[in-house]
Amino acid sequence: MPAAGQNLRIDSARLWDSLMQMAEIGPGVAGGNNRQTLTDADAEGRALFADWCRKAGMTMGVDRMGTMFATRPGEDPGALPVYVGSHLDTQPTGGRYDGVLGVLGALECVRTMNDLGIRTRHPIVVTNWANEEGARFAPAMLASGVFAGVHSLDYAYGRRDPDGKTYGDELARIGWQGEEEVGARKMHAYYELHIEQGPILEAEGADIGVVTHCQGLWWLEFTLTGREAHTGSTPMAMRVNAGLAMARILEMVQEVALSEQPDAVGGVGQMRFAPNSRNVLPGQVVFTVDIRSPDQVKLDRMRAAIETRAAAICADLGVACAVEPVGHFDPVTFAPELVATVRRAADRLGLPHRDIVSGAGHDACWAAKVAPATMVMCPCVGGLSHNEAEEITPDWAAKGTDVLLHAVLETAGVVA
Ligand code: GLV
Ligand code: MN
Ligand code: MN
Repeated sequence: MPAAGQNLRIDSARLWDSLMQMAEIGPGVAGGNNRQTLTDADAEGRALFADWCRKAGMTMGVDRMGTMFATRPGEDPGALPVYVGSHLDTQPTGGRYDGVLGVLGALECVRTMNDLGIRTRHPIVVTNWANEEGARFAPAMLASGVFAGVHSLDYAYGRRDPDGKTYGDELARIGWQGEEEVGARKMHAYYELHIEQGPILEAEGADIGVVTHCQGLWWLEFTLTGREAHTGSTPMAMRVNAGLAMARILEMVQEVALSEQPDAVGGVGQMRFAPNSRNVLPGQVVFTVDIRSPDQVKLDRMRAAIETRAAAICADLGVACAVEPVGHFDPVTFAPELVATVRRAADRLGLPHRDIVSGAGHDACWAAKVAPATMVMCPCVGGLSHNEAEEITPDWAAKGTDVLLHAVLETAGVVA
């Protein structure tokens, strides 16, 4: 075990170089990435990652959801592994670091251990969870959810993208459907490094976020059914306008989130009009409301208020309203002993840190159901994420990964 104060550091230039190489795969249109899950670009990114893991002396396992597990053996054959990872899939207009930093930071920790000849009691497993983003196949964190027993494999395989393709078919198509039973692996602990995706750390000059909790979420998919009709010749009184109902619901979601301040957010990021023609009132509108709060009572109260008020809005307009939850997790409390380990690591490295609640969902949220888990965060410029302009500095990436290395080594136990 490194003595307290021992100044182990990762190779910052190598980490940055790997981040930039991965960013060349599935380029976006504005400097970021479109490496959505189970696309050809995802397969290409996986192959590069697998190659790097092999060169770092690790052996790769892949489960039936397509999650990749690269193992660096430990010295104690009976010791369960410490898992460290995140995701390589991105939003359609994603940044270069959301998820990627956590996977390649974990890989960099192993490369550093190799360089320094550090052996650990517990094995280390660098993990690339499949379909964290949920952009192509809802819900987010799908593979870690199956791993944790929250979703069945059949449910996951049947999830459809907007073109109607299923997760199961697309996973087989890209050739990353493994043999391993999902969730059969047991974890000693789980760590995930991630960019904050919010403005707090940068604004306060903190290099490290010690993540104590993650806020909970509901994704509510609304299907509003009106009547297709001519936009010019249909008198206002005769319209059954699903688009108008949607607009009123959006305004109402804003009001509900504002009524639960602080610590509640709500909005809509995706909508589809059918037939989506300029001069046809939509017969059907489908959209997803995303609401989040670290407070379980607020989260559930928001959901109830939104569903009740949406039903009233639609009834008033004669529009039919169906709601299906397509994503959910309760607020998460991360393992206090691992949180303390991260805090100690930041202190040992002399890095300014603060406790923080994650605003975004992460695979760590589901891993926390089956093992002690926590996260390390680093700042991102202007708090911007889920945007191709997402940016971090090499220094922030290195400091976050240094803390990850120290925390993982403490938990995995260094063998003298
Ligand atoms: C995952 O990116 C989320 O929606 O929080
Ligand atoms: Mn992420
Ligand atoms: Mn994301």
